[in-house]
Amino acid sequence: MPEAARLSAIGVSKRYRVGARHVQALSAVSLQVAPAETLAVVGESGSGKSTLGRLLLGVERPDEGEIRVDAERLVVPSPKAMRRRLQVVQQNPLSTLNPRRTVGQSVGLPLQVHGLAPAARRRDRVRELLDLVGLPVDAQDRYPSALSGGQRQRAALARALAAEPDLIVLDEPTSALDVSVQARVLHLLIDLQARLRLTYVFITHDLAVVRNVAARVAVLYRGRVVESGPTEAVFLRPRHRYTTMLLSAIPVVSDAEEAVKPTWPHDAGAFVAEPDAAGCAFAPRCPFAVEPCRRAPPPFEARDGRHAVACYNPRD
Ligand SMILES: Nc1ncnc2c1ncn2[C@@H]1O[C@H](COP(=O)(O)OP(=O)(O)O)[C@@H](O)[C@H]1O
Ligand code: SF4
Ligand SMILES: [Mg+2]
Repeated sequence: MPEAARLSAIGVSKRYRVGARHVQALSAVSLQVAPAETLAVVGESGSGKSTLGRLLLGVERPDEGEIRVDAERLVVPSPKAMRRRLQVVQQNPLSTLNPRRTVGQSVGLPLQVHGLAPAARRRDRVRELLDLVGLPVDAQDRYPSALSGGQRQRAALARALAAEPDLIVLDEPTSALDVSVQARVLHLLIDLQARLRLTYVFITHDLAVVRNVAARVAVLYRGRVVESGPTEAVFLRPRHRYTTMLLSAIPVVSDAEEAVKPTWPHDAGAFVAEPDAAGCAFAPRCPFAVEPCRRAPPPFEARDGRHAVACYNPRD
């Protein structure tokens, strides 16, 4: 049984150069994920979620700040033993499943690379892994093109699990799937986490899926964490105005949920202008902006995983 990993980001920033311009993908992001827990990272497209995922995996180096796995600082490029412990499942399973290899070959590769099963045992281990993710044994001799979207994502998951990871970054793992398939894959992920004591970072743009999968949530807006805390608390009493806007838009299934759902009787409008770099990035869209909002980014301090918000004029 692997040791579930504790993961933290401490004041992490990342810029990219695009031609002559710089894009600030992340600014001073701090968060923690407890062992065998799921942290959901939510935000709209371009908010920096995948960048954060790459930093947490040790695939890219932050410009400032650091990532820690347990108490250890993650170095980049990370040593092979650490790469084994930190795995990823992406939106597109073909990013890890080679279309020219059978599923069995792709799932078996980590076994070979990390010396996790002797050659004679490899096929059996691949079969066990396919069974674990709910794929039939004959999937091992098929090519990814012969599988459905949901089956491909299961195969990508089997490949990640082959490495016997302690932590998996799930970057929009169900976003490309039909709703019914999505629910089954989510269910599988939750079940595997409990059985294998995995730590998850669940990245999604869809706040509606978060509630069932994650104990904690961090909301990203334009590269900053604007609110974080226990999922229940954030859903029932969202404080940041952006979180409120997001929650007001998600469908609910019961009257009880409808009763606590925040309302947003404002134009949810897309961007009006580039945000004033000095202040809160949400200010150009925020009907609640007050004078300090345009001067400096609201401070954010999340302690002990408690509900925290970066807003000068939060919802009560
Ligand atoms: N390799 C890269 N080179 C240049 N810009 C990038 C790169 N990766 C991400 N970005 C930029 O950083 C921002 C955040 O991107 P990303 O992390 O992919 O967001 P998300 O996953 O939330 O959609 C975007 O403005 C994106 O264009
Ligand atoms: S800091 Fe100001 S602009 Fe930003 S969300 Fe809060 S009230 Fe709105
Ligand atoms: Mg992304």
